[in-house]
Amino acid sequence: MSHPGRLEGKTAIITGAGMGLGEGITRKFIEEGANVLLFEISAEHGQNVANQFAKDKAAFFKGDVTNLDHWEAALKACLDKFGKLDIVVNNAGVVHRAGPSHDVPRSEYDRIMNINVSPLYQSAKVIAPYFVKQKQGVFVNISSISAPRPRPNLVWYAGSKGAVSAITKGLAAELGPSGIRCNAICPVVAETGMVSSVLGGTDTLEGRAGLTKAIPLGRFATPQDIGNAACWLASDEASFITGIELPVDGGRALN
Ligand SMILES: NC(=O)c1ccc[n+]([C@@H]2O[C@H](COP(=O)([O-])OP(=O)(O)OC[C@H]3O[C@@H](n4cnc5c(N)ncnc54)[C@H](O)[C@@H]3O)[C@@H](O)[C@H]2O)c1
Repeated sequence: MSHPGRLEGKTAIITGAGMGLGEGITRKFIEEGANVLLFEISAEHGQNVANQFAKDKAAFFKGDVTNLDHWEAALKACLDKFGKLDIVVNNAGVVHRAGPSHDVPRSEYDRIMNINVSPLYQSAKVIAPYFVKQKQGVFVNISSISAPRPRPNLVWYAGSKGAVSAITKGLAAELGPSGIRCNAICPVVAETGMVSSVLGGTDTLEGRAGLTKAIPLGRFATPQDIGNAACWLASDEASFITGIELPVDGGRALN
């Protein structure tokens, strides 16, 4: 007997959907029945992922998540294409090269804060009123296990993700009475282009082994792991879950 997908009939905007975790979340959402607008700054990557799916399930939107006008245009493009919006996944984000906090240039600090934190403002400003009007909607924000459990050398990144987690909880409290849920996912280091920065600029077997050793379940996270968690949080199965930071970290935060 075939079951309907967990996200059957839902429409999502997923930011940073052109590679890494965003691509994994997009794949899972479409497998589970959702329509997806891929809100991505790289035309090459965004279009490439969108092309892997049927045209009525996936559409690429070229935009920068730090730009309020682009959010307005993304909402319009989503409504024009799919007729509705139920879910926003704030996934796009960047990391600085791991190293002593005082060595991170000011320009890197500004870039991290701008790309990781400001999209939550932009999406709340543009999407929350739409969700309030329809009396339902879900935000899933990709934070990091470094938010609840910061460690040396990724301090500014952890700070930006601490803001993502705190803003998620604040919005959950504020928007809950309007039927809107907001949750954060906290991944451990994942198998994406970010690995070399997390390792200080060079991706080595020794560096990877050091990170893996600190994870009780003995591996990095995968885009599938994060896709599965995001799908559950976005689905009606999580209809009474709001304001949480869900670790998807193989037990890393226990150490
Ligand atoms: N990979 C990890 O180890 C890890 C761990 C914890 C949390 N995270 C978080 O997961 C999220 C995804 O990370 P990833 O590893 O998949 O990264 P990635 O670099 O592989 O992919 C990020 C995607 O976001 C897009 N993007 C970047 N800036 C953008 C902008 N201004 N507007 C629109 N799109 C933009 C990029 O083009 C890219 O396609 C980030 O928020 C990251 O902080 C990653």
